[in-house]
Formats: sequence, structure tokens, C-alpha cells
Amino acid sequence: MNITKVKDYEEMSFRAAEYLLKKIVKLKKPVIGLATGSTPEGMYKYLIEKKEEISFKNVTTFNLDEYVGLSKDDQNSYHFYMNDKLFNHIDIKKENTHLPNGAAKDLKQECRDYEDAIREAGFIDVQILGIGVNGHIGFNDPETPFTSRTHVVDLDESTRKANVRFFQSIEEVPRQAITMGIETIMESKEILLLISGKEKAHSLARLIEGPVDEKFPASILHKHAHVEIIADEAALSGV
Ligand code: GLP
Repeated sequence: MNITKVKDYEEMSFRAAEYLLKKIVKLKKPVIGLATGSTPEGMYKYLIEKKEEISFKNVTTFNLDEYVGLSKDDQNSYHFYMNDKLFNHIDIKKENTHLPNGAAKDLKQECRDYEDAIREAGFIDVQILGIGVNGHIGFNDPETPFTSRTHVVDLDESTRKANVRFFQSIEEVPRQAITMGIETIMESKEILLLISGKEKAHSLARLIEGPVDEKFPASILHKHAHVEIIADEAALSGV
């Protein structure tokens, strides 16, 4: 794992956008894995700023996860987030953007279809990741098997609480989500993990220093051949 230390959230976001843009320019048909949450928002802003210079017409995207039971227009769905924070502002073709459909009638089939779509696209060139305070990646909470593929998960209470800030109340936070599995994430050719803020300092220290263990899902990244971490000083303060 290669760690780049940056000053703050702004610099992390800027560096991440630069990293991604270089890949997009270099690859003919880039397949990019995207994440939601607060962490990548700044990166999306920088990507939008470059829209006059760089075209996203050849880019295909796959998001890590989506809540079960929320429609695509629901303001708390990750579909809405991605349209609002990125897709509506760049020249990407909507048909090339993919998120699991959390409103699908047959969720298991939806998971299989999502796996097939990633495979058919030739797998993910760069997967953007954030990390949950409990070490989750995507919505793969502690104890998720490292061999998991895209699946439906029951969300940890701690994960629901961490995400309540986007909702009116804890009752509104969905209890399930569809997430790429850990093995699915690990099949990405490169992984770019972004970490900012002192509330993630403990998680980053655990990731860097701790054992590879299903109790801390992100620890699997030690087994990946190409992981870039961009972390700010606050996130690195526990190391
Ligand atoms: C959510 C998402 C993850 C994200 C994590 C951290 O639960 N499913 O993909 O990485 O939380 O979110 P944040 O960046 O807001 O701290």
C-alpha cells in the first residue's frame, strides 16, 4: 500500500481528482468504481471543474453500493447522490453509469446482474474507496467474508448511525443495502482509498498496523497489489 500524506480534505480531494483524470486520459475505455459518502464529494467537485478540458464520454462507472428500498429519485439514494454530485454536471453517458438497483423486485438477481455487468465491462480499472469507522468498505461491515461477491446486507447499527446525518431520523435510514462484495472490490486493477479527518484516525491506524482479519474489512487491502491511499494529516494522526 502506497500512502500519500496531504495537508487536509481539500488537498486530498484535489490529488484524488488529478489521479483519476490521469487514468481517464491514459485509458481508452476507463472503467471507474465510485463511492458515496462525504469523503469523495470534494473529489467530484474538482472533476466537474475540469469538464471543459477532459471528456467523460468513454468512461464507464460502477458504484459500490445502494440502499435497499429507496427509489432512484429518493434524495437519500446513492443514485440521486451520484446524479447530483457528478453525473449531471459532466458529459458522461448515463447508460454507462451503473449503481445497484435497491428497488429491484428480485434483489438476488440484481446482485448477479451487477457482477455480470462489471465482468462484461472488463473489470474496474480504478476503484475509489472510502472507509467506515468500523473498517467497512462499500457496505461490507465487520465479519463479511473476504470471499463475498455483490450481495444484500443487513446494515450494522453503527453504520446506520454513522449515516443518519443524511436522513431526518434513524427510523428513515434503510436497514439493508446492496454492496459489491469484498472479492468483487479486490478484482479492481487499482484501488484509491481516501481518508480524511481525525474521526478516521483510529481506523487508518488499524488498517496500517493491524492484521488482515474479517473483523476489519479494509484490512484485506494489504493483499491487493496496487493500493494508493491519500490521507490527510488528521487521519494520519493515530499512526
Ligand atoms: C458509507 C458508504 C461507504 C463509505 C462510508 C464512509 O456507509 N457505504 O462506501 O465509504 O460510509 O462514509 P464517509 O465518507 O461519509 O465517512
